[in-house]
Amino acid sequence: MNVLGIETSCDETAAAVVTDDRRILSNVVLSQLDEHRPYGGVVPEIAARAHLDHLDGIIGQAMADAAIGFGKLDAVAATGGPGLIGGVMVGVMTAKAIAAVHGLPFLAVNHLEGHALTARLTDDVQFPYLLLLVSGGHCQLLAVEDVGGYVRLGGTIDDAIGEAFDKTAKLLGLGYPGGPALEAAAARGDATRFALPRPLAGRPGCDFSFSGLKTAVRHAAAKLPDGEVSAADAADLAASFQAAVGDVLVDRCANALDAFAGAHPAAAPALVVAGGVAANRHLRTRLGELCAQRQTRLIAPPSELCTDNAAMIAWAGIEHVRRGAADGLDFAPRPRWPLDEGKNAAA
Ligand code: KG4
Ligand code: ZN
Repeated sequence: MNVLGIETSCDETAAAVVTDDRRILSNVVLSQLDEHRPYGGVVPEIAARAHLDHLDGIIGQAMADAAIGFGKLDAVAATGGPGLIGGVMVGVMTAKAIAAVHGLPFLAVNHLEGHALTARLTDDVQFPYLLLLVSGGHCQLLAVEDVGGYVRLGGTIDDAIGEAFDKTAKLLGLGYPGGPALEAAAARGDATRFALPRPLAGRPGCDFSFSGLKTAVRHAAAKLPDGEVSAADAADLAASFQAAVGDVLVDRCANALDAFAGAHPAAAPALVVAGGVAANRHLRTRLGELCAQRQTRLIAPPSELCTDNAAMIAWAGIEHVRRGAADGLDFAPRPRWPLDEGKNAAA
């Protein structure tokens, strides 16, 4: 089975062709970084227009790289939400048109489900597993029991983790996009120089909080002599921030592993980490240490499949097609779409 996937929910225009025997025939990602850089963040209207300008070409390239014609496709899957609605509409409309013209089933995929199931494309992972979803818009721990079977164990009560990275990087003048820039600066910094809080660490439960940590970085920066943040100060603050985030993730995931083991005593314990922030090497190392202590398998897909891409959308489509699912061409894009909620529940 060959499935075309389309992703347009944020600032990546992406298309990919994936097979049901887990081969990625093509995976094309066009990042709109240059369009949004002057504003220091993603501008929804600019993103929607850029998707409209580039999507046809990106799909053409994905089909050419895969070296198959549209006649060899078995389904078309597009991100149906959650995300910036203008972009989601561009991807969904294009996928519906391809499906209609070529007589193919259309699937509207939850973007978060794309991240959640990527590990089953890259690694041989069986259900159930524990998922740490860490991206620009989300920070959640979920028990993934089956395709469509997601039980939320906890999530952020304020900022998403990627948002905390991006805002902290902006505050420190580290450039855009913030996450990778902060990681690069942290590699040159001293993580012990600033004592930053570890929000919610040591408390029961699996929730997260990042806004206080971000504020603590701002206060520490303001207390520097002359209020000037030198490159060395920025590196030390970045390293201290990243260390605090690592401690928080380890603390929260330890609680989640306990909760998961309680609910699934017979399952071989596995922690899957997904979403753009999962590209961070320090955080991967910290989670690796936790999993080693807990005799738990850690599965972290390669970075290019952690950040937004269309291979994950094609794969989630395959998981649904295998179960006989398809969506009608009347599917309406959903700006909000919690993962632990059915497809057609009110947004
Ligand atoms: O999953 P993703 O590509 O898009 C969303 O669905 O949000 O995640 C993007 C987020 C951004 O906040 C970005 O700064 C963050 O992931 N990110 C990182 C790293 N690479 C990307 N955060 C920390 N360290 C990184 N290396
Ligand atoms: Zn994402």
